[in-house]
Amino acid sequence: MASSSALILFSLLIFSFSALAISKCPSASDEKVSLSLYYETFCPGCSEFIVHELPKIFKNRLIDIVDLNLVPYGNANLLKNGTIICQHGPFECFLNTVEACAINSMPEYEYFEFIRCTENFIAEGKAEESSSCLDKTPGHGKILHDCYTSGRGQKIELQYAKVTAALNPPHEYVPWVTVNEVPIRMDIENFMKYICKAYKGTSTPKACKELPKGIIPAEPKLNMKVCRVNDASRMTKPRPRGITGWKF
Ligand SMILES: *[C@@H]1O[C@H](CO)[C@@H](O)[C@H](O)[C@H]1NC(C)=O
Repeated sequence: MASSSALILFSLLIFSFSALAISKCPSASDEKVSLSLYYETFCPGCSEFIVHELPKIFKNRLIDIVDLNLVPYGNANLLKNGTIICQHGPFECFLNTVEACAINSMPEYEYFEFIRCTENFIAEGKAEESSSCLDKTPGHGKILHDCYTSGRGQKIELQYAKVTAALNPPHEYVPWVTVNEVPIRMDIENFMKYICKAYKGTSTPKACKELPKGIIPAEPKLNMKVCRVNDASRMTKPRPRGITGWKF
């Protein structure tokens, strides 16, 4: 009896100490800046941002203070019966879903590399060849295949549809970049400055100190390449056959 109450007391002590330790230690994720990219796989401005801008934060380690949140859904429309219609046709829906599967089943750096590689092929007009991006991450082809064919990918896309529709303010075009939920709109090339400005933690990365001071409204280079909500003129010819050419 005595020993069991001693044990209980001891466990309580350990428990309260660990609870104290947890509450005292500032969680790193609290300090992280949330960077979200709402995009669709076939929009030229999105590919450009993913291929040329986003990789910079992996190179300069800004990623250490960033919670990266990629949402491949964009300007797709959700019909009442649950069917998703994508702005650039069925092949875009397919690759949106494959990228959604990657985001939800691969480690951050690996899914980002896969998406960067895929978007690079799309930007070059060779979307069908993007399945070769899987060669760099052995084992993940099967995971993505299972995610896509099981319907899990579709479920994630329906979730992304909800998240995108709930944006406040609503997105007007893609790429739509938010830093701590605030859209930076056409100032997309300054995205790293917004991250540094939003960072309230103590371990300011070197990259933040090296960025030129102030946010200079950039010439919106991506201006011409954004894809606006409900803009049918951006529709490319649907290439449903691309889907069958894509090998997991
Ligand atoms: C959903 O509705 C669309 C348009 O009305 C139709 O083309 C499509 O076949 C429907 N899909 C299902 C699964 O019922």
